[in-house]
Amino acid sequence: MKLHYYGHAAFAVALNGKFLLFDPFISPNQATHGKVDIGELTPDYILLSHAHEDHVADVEAIAKKSGGMIVGMAEVAYYYMQRGFDKVHAMNYGGQKTFDDGLTVKQTLALHSSSFPDGSYGGNPSGYVVSSENDGTFYFAGDTALFSDMKLIAETSPRPLDFAVLPIGDNFTMGVNDAVRAADFLGVKKVVGCHYNTFPPIEIDTGAAQSAFSQAGKELLLPGIGETIEV
Ligand code: NI
Ligand code: MN
Repeated sequence: MKLHYYGHAAFAVALNGKFLLFDPFISPNQATHGKVDIGELTPDYILLSHAHEDHVADVEAIAKKSGGMIVGMAEVAYYYMQRGFDKVHAMNYGGQKTFDDGLTVKQTLALHSSSFPDGSYGGNPSGYVVSSENDGTFYFAGDTALFSDMKLIAETSPRPLDFAVLPIGDNFTMGVNDAVRAADFLGVKKVVGCHYNTFPPIEIDTGAAQSAFSQAGKELLLPGIGETIEV
């Protein structure tokens, strides 16, 4: 699988011939300026973990231009329906949906909070397990603390997880040590780190983070903004 990193928790994965974009917070992110052009992003799906601005800022612009389907927790999905978007798919915890193109998406628990920048209720925050028979399976935790039911997320995944995308910036989410533990619970060796170094409260020592993972026999991948990696 190819993974494109757009800074913060925004990334895209090419799976089953489809382009899946997650948590697009790109144009307001100082660190991405000049590295990613949201006008060039043409996702088939836009999956949202929760309603906080640092996850949804570019949803409307990208959805309008690309016609990609917005996927989110019920309240997140209904918010966009009310704002005139009709290609929207609402989910809730534990729910799994296989779309016509063979892509299976399961919505998972996340320990965090969720409200839109305009104060609208954003329901509960979530993560996703995304799977395709031919191409592989991965877990995006969204913004979350560590929780032991991550074991259950791995056990009930439609297929074994190839890698996980985990927040590592601490303060608002898990930090590095808890993310190493999360990788254990999930049974994954390969982790893509996100939600770090965007703002002062989530600045981390990336070298120390990578050694913490390697000491645990795991690999922490930290693609640069605008970089594409093979996962
Ligand atoms: Ni958040
Ligand atoms: Mn966040």
